[in-house]
Amino acid sequence: MFNNNTDNKPKIIIANWKMNPDSFGETDNLIKIIKKGIKKSDNLKVIICPPAVYLSKIKANSGFDLGIQNIFWEDRGAFTGEISAIIAKNLKIKYTIIGHSERRKYLNETDEMVNLKMQSALKNKLSPILCIGETLEEKKKDVTSGVITNQLKKAFKGISNIKYSISNICIAYEPVWAIGTSKTPSIDEIMSVNLLIKKTISNLYDRETAEKISILYGGSVDSKNAFDFVDKTGMDGLLIGGASLNGSEFARIVNLFE
Ligand code: 13P
Repeated sequence: MFNNNTDNKPKIIIANWKMNPDSFGETDNLIKIIKKGIKKSDNLKVIICPPAVYLSKIKANSGFDLGIQNIFWEDRGAFTGEISAIIAKNLKIKYTIIGHSERRKYLNETDEMVNLKMQSALKNKLSPILCIGETLEEKKKDVTSGVITNQLKKAFKGISNIKYSISNICIAYEPVWAIGTSKTPSIDEIMSVNLLIKKTISNLYDRETAEKISILYGGSVDSKNAFDFVDKTGMDGLLIGGASLNGSEFARIVNLFE
């Protein structure tokens, strides 16, 4: 079946700072602590996703790849408060988170909107970090596989040409019940979702595409559990919330993958 040996792909560690920190001064400080704490590694990508207003200021002095936490699906126009893939791209931002469960929950972001954002990101050569995952209710009803397959099919609906950017697309499995709760799935559960994602992408596209897309885990990751979530599951990396706001803890996680 699928090759679970992903050693040749760079590991990807993403910091999702969500709506933190409160000021650019604190942001700058956090970047400095992370930079100082991280040892160099060639086969590792570290991506920071701060609040959008800090992006251009960080860009100038950080050396990290940056991601925006959300984009709108239209290229330009009368959409107050929104940021397009083009605006992000022109700031030299490489990645965009799409479909985070907090946006699905608090802003009623639907699978259809997620699909439009995927299309806009890919069209404008911004690499999507697509977030999927089941709620606690769905887990209890034992419908995780169906939920994940459905989210993937809808996110990639009508997207035929992803070839040019396959190796930059990330799919992050973030069980909603594991976000910020200190609860995490078992290694076996993460491994089986990893295989399910590969199988679904293979059915939608082909096996080569499924092997090239990076699949990440997110939800209550810290420096104690991070290594196993990648090393024992075949995952290609991690999407980290809370622990990425502590500069030395985030650097410790990154350094596990040197
Ligand atoms: P926590 O690491 O705080 O659980 O958040 C995960 C997450 O939502 C990253 O996108």
